[in-house]
Amino acid sequence: MAERRPLLSVKNLSYNYQDGSSALNEVSFELFEDEKIALVGANGSGKSTLLLHLSGCFAAGKGEIFFKDNDAGGNTSILMAAAGLVFQEPDDQMFMPSVLDDVTFGLVAGGVNAKTARETAYSCLEMLGASHLAERPPHRMSGGEKRISALAGILVMHPEIILLDEPTSGLDPAARRRVIEILKDMDKPMILATHDLDMALDLCGRTLILHKGTITASGETRQILCDEKLLRANGLALPMRYADGVK
Ligand SMILES: Nc1ncnc2c1ncn2[C@@H]1O[C@H](COP(=O)(O)OP(=O)(O)OP(=O)(O)O)[C@@H](O)[C@H]1O
Ligand SMILES: [Mg+2]
Repeated sequence: MAERRPLLSVKNLSYNYQDGSSALNEVSFELFEDEKIALVGANGSGKSTLLLHLSGCFAAGKGEIFFKDNDAGGNTSILMAAAGLVFQEPDDQMFMPSVLDDVTFGLVAGGVNAKTARETAYSCLEMLGASHLAERPPHRMSGGEKRISALAGILVMHPEIILLDEPTSGLDPAARRRVIEILKDMDKPMILATHDLDMALDLCGRTLILHKGTITASGETRQILCDEKLLRANGLALPMRYADGVK
């Protein structure tokens, strides 16, 4: 049988911000074609910093990142082309005067004609239950409205790897459920940084725990997220459904 090759392979990645603070410390893991991985950890544990590396926004200083066996740590354009990151702060991502313009932007930049791009972008907003936001200026919307619009801007591009930084943060229950169902139906490799451990249980077969920039646990989501002692040692708590006694 052919060996199962990872799509993404991170080896001993370490990163210090310019002020000298250490954000990642010898992080190693692999993402396979058919996988959705949850990245969990307390505030400041390094989740966003890791996603910024995997999207090509940060170059791998110390350590390596391989995408399909190519050295993507040294050549960030490889990851920029392959991975789509939904930023933790939508304001860091959205810059066009209207939501529809913003969701259309990447398609047009990629060579899709303007009319088709607008129709495709509108359909993507519709799928997310956000078509009513199409003409709104992003800087005058609520946090949840911005988040769902920013998600549309990435999903519309159909990246090979989807990276999501707190995709359900600030969403109302209906919008949260819709996002979870859409992501569940997407047959794409994903890494989700999240404090929504119930979403991790619904979506991700594997979970990594980051603690102070180090991966302290990696394994089956259902095993990791019911281990109260492990979670507590990493500044986390049981998902709501386990805390409520529902398995
Ligand atoms: N621009 C920056 N300059 C200096 N230090 C930073 C910067 N951004 C983040 N850090 C630090 O790097 C560490 C990791 O931060 P990061 O944002 O990756 O954490 P996180 O796990 O995403 O946290 P949260 O759950 O709050 O989103 C923290 O100690 C943080 O204070
Ligand atoms: Mg973060």
